[in-house]
Amino acid sequence: MTTLFVSGSPSARSRSSGLVAHLRARLVHAGLPTEHLALRELPAQPLLHGDATAPGIAEALDRVARADAVVIATPVYKASYSGLLKVFLDLLPQYGLEGKILLPVATGGSLAHALVLDYALRPVLAAAGATHVLPGVFVTDGQLQMDPVQGLCIDADLQRRLDDAVGSLVRTVARLRIAATLADVEPGSLGEFSRRCCSG
Ligand SMILES: Cc1cc2nc3c(=O)[nH]c(=O)nc-3n(C[C@H](O)[C@H](O)[C@H](O)COP(=O)(O)O)c2cc1C
Repeated sequence: MTTLFVSGSPSARSRSSGLVAHLRARLVHAGLPTEHLALRELPAQPLLHGDATAPGIAEALDRVARADAVVIATPVYKASYSGLLKVFLDLLPQYGLEGKILLPVATGGSLAHALVLDYALRPVLAAAGATHVLPGVFVTDGQLQMDPVQGLCIDADLQRRLDDAVGSLVRTVARLRIAATLADVEPGSLGEFSRRCCSG
């Protein structure tokens, strides 16, 4: 059961990507298989031209399709999520997130746009068929120091919130696994199983 981490920042030295690395390490520690998709590394032209079949783009979309859980991380740009994330989400099939567990994460300059995850990103995830969207994590730049030597420095309050988010993701994945085992679902079909559970 794979969790795919999607980094939506165009920046090379990115706070939200630092957060992704931190969360991913926690999941690996919990024994869950993970993958990482950095959208800034995708070929720009086909991405902007909406070419879902182009090499690199098709593989990235396939990784989303195969994931059972997806952690989506984005910076706040102009009171919303990043444009890079939007052009990628636009390429997903109509119900491309159906049956998946979603954890949205955002970093922003101030608390003024803390509701970006709920007001801007959540409706887009719902439009792509997501029904298992866990409470998101919004982090201000002041709570996340990027030290060139020590790496990511996280204060105690944020650490607690991240632990809660990871715990919630791990528990949800575990519940789905148990339910799938009881229902004798084939490995690799959990997304489809979850979709059937949700649609009743
Ligand atoms: C073009 C641009 C627009 C931004 N707009 C906002 C904004 O509207 N609200 C906000 O809180 N922060 C805004 N910020 C600050 C970033 O969200 C913040 O620094 C974030 O942590 C950057 O994440 P990243 O390093 O992963 O790209 C903006 C930054 C940039 C570069």
